[in-house]
Amino acid sequence: MLDKVKELIGEVTAFNGTTKDEIETFRIKFLSKKGLLNDLFNEFKNVNPAERKDFGQALNTLKNLAQDKVNQLKDTLENASDQKGFYGDLTRPEEPIELGSRHPISLVRNKIIDVFSRIGFTVSEGPEIEDDWHNFTALNLPEYHPARDMQDTFFIETNPDILLRTHTSSVQVRYMENNKPPIRTISPGRVFRNEDISARAHCIFHQVEGLYIDTDVSFADLKQTLLYFTKEMFGKSKIRLRPSYFPFTEPSAEVDIYWGLETETDYKITKGTGWLEIMGCGMVDPNVLKNANIDPEIYSGYAFGMGIERIAMLLYQIPDIRMFYENDVRFLEQFKSVL
Ligand code: DAH
Repeated sequence: MLDKVKELIGEVTAFNGTTKDEIETFRIKFLSKKGLLNDLFNEFKNVNPAERKDFGQALNTLKNLAQDKVNQLKDTLENASDQKGFYGDLTRPEEPIELGSRHPISLVRNKIIDVFSRIGFTVSEGPEIEDDWHNFTALNLPEYHPARDMQDTFFIETNPDILLRTHTSSVQVRYMENNKPPIRTISPGRVFRNEDISARAHCIFHQVEGLYIDTDVSFADLKQTLLYFTKEMFGKSKIRLRPSYFPFTEPSAEVDIYWGLETETDYKITKGTGWLEIMGCGMVDPNVLKNANIDPEIYSGYAFGMGIERIAMLLYQIPDIRMFYENDVRFLEQFKSVL
């Protein structure tokens, strides 16, 4: 009897069926109700007591081997049919790929870059953690200058010389320090102000700074460039420049575009005037040029700065600035089709 079981163990070990039918025949032969294993277990009582222990052990080994064999061959067969060659089943329907969307801030920044790069502006960047010189002093805002209060600043407590930049005008200074005129560059980036968060204001937002330095740059050049920009960006061709004050430009102006008064929203966002303020600008103050080692007797230039959120809110009619930073997919997904 024991020999018979040992022989069967050999047979089970050697078995290597590759089709479903072969494996099923094997299973029936060994493991089914009327299979060999059941027969052998029934024989157990007839085995003489001295041999029972060995017989029992061998029988268990045979049973386990047969079961493992069936499982293993079935697995191999299933995997093989799953894969159908190197690339798998090419007829299987693909899982849909979730497409993301660009953030509206990136969309607007890219559009601004595109519009200005068409007239020869390069893109430059600077650090978000700045020193006093680049954010204030070099921009004609020396210590104790009252205009420093125009922008509430986050300082590093242990070192008042280090701060989070309050505007991208700091990149102007860095760019002038490192490049000779003619200069034509825009600097997009993140800025920080210690302000209460509301629907209209945030402590983190984005700006784009523009700088143009050459011989004989005039205010008319500035106006013409801004007109080109507003036409390309908004499709609006009427702007006005209102006299204003910035320490780093002289003269300075605020730029309004004529948005129109066609819809109720137009009335709301322009407060019934039809005009919308979109940026600050001016002729670079000679002191700023000097601070960056550019001779104001030879060169002149203009600069401008605008908030990206503000423009995005106008373009996409976004009512609350906080929506940009909440990362609510229901908001973000609405920009899927915008390029
Ligand atoms: N830096 C100003 C701000 O943050 C914006 C600005 C105004 C930039 C006039 C300029 C400029 O370059 O000429 O409010």
